[in-house]
Amino acid sequence: MAVVLCARGSSDPDANADVHKLARLLYEGREFSRVEATFVGVTDPTLDDTLHDIARHRPDAVVVVPYMLGDGVLTDRIRDGADGFDAEYPYVDAACGDPLGTDPRLLDVLADRWQEARTGSVEMSCDTCKYKVELDGYEADVGGAKAMLRALNHQEAHADRGDVADEPHVHDAPDKHVAVCTSQTCAADGAPAVLERLRQEARDTDDGSVRVTRLSCLGQCGDGPNVAVYPEGVWYQGVRPEDAQRIVASHLERDRIVSDLDSQLL
Ligand code: FES
Repeated sequence: MAVVLCARGSSDPDANADVHKLARLLYEGREFSRVEATFVGVTDPTLDDTLHDIARHRPDAVVVVPYMLGDGVLTDRIRDGADGFDAEYPYVDAACGDPLGTDPRLLDVLADRWQEARTGSVEMSCDTCKYKVELDGYEADVGGAKAMLRALNHQEAHADRGDVADEPHVHDAPDKHVAVCTSQTCAADGAPAVLERLRQEARDTDDGSVRVTRLSCLGQCGDGPNVAVYPEGVWYQGVRPEDAQRIVASHLERDRIVSDLDSQLL
C-alpha cells in the first residue's frame, strides 16, 4: 500500500521541506510500499501529478492523507482528487483519509513552540529524535540512558558552540531542562497534569532559563510519574502536580534538590 501525504503547500521552502520530512518519517519502520509528499496548491508536486506517478508503480491501494487540521475547501479538493484517481485506475483501490482534527497533544506542541519562541531556542528536530519519541521500528532506542546521554551531549554542544557567530546550531541552552516522562505508566499515573503544573510554575517564575518538555520512558515504569532535571541528572519519582511548585522554587531557583522525591538513581 502506498500513502500520499497531502499538505496545503507554502511559499516557505522550509515549510514544504517539513512535509517531505514527515512523509519520510511515516515511511520509516512501516510496511508501506512508498510514502510521497505532495501539495494541493502553491507548489509542486501537485496531488494529481503525484497520484499519476505513483500509479506507474502499480500499488494495490493508495491512501491520501490530508495534512490539515480541519475540513474545508482544500480537503474537499483532496477528496475529489482521490476519487478521480480511483475512477481512472480501476486496478488501484484509492481512498482519502480524514484531516488531523483536534487532539489534546496539539496543545502540548503549541506550548512547546511558545516556549521555544520565548526563549529563542528552536528544537523542533528534537521532536522526531528516535531517542526521545517512540518512532515505529525504533521503539527500542527510546528513553533511559540513551535519552539522558543525548540530552547531556546536546547541552555540551551548546557550550562548545556558543562563541561561533555563524554556527547554525547556536541557541541559548536552558540553565535547567526538566523532562517529564509522559509514556505509558507515568501517563496513567498523572504525568500530563504534572507536566502542565511544572510548565505553569516555570512560566510564572522564570526568565526563560528553564525548559520543561515531555520525554519518553525513562525505564522506571511503575514508580512514576518520573521527572528528570538536567544538567544535574536528578530523577524525581512519584511526582504529583502539587510537587511542581517545590521543584521549581527549590531545585530550579535555588539548586536545592527536593530530597523526599529524589529517586537517587544517579
Ligand atoms: S513510563 Fe515513565 S518511566 Fe516508563
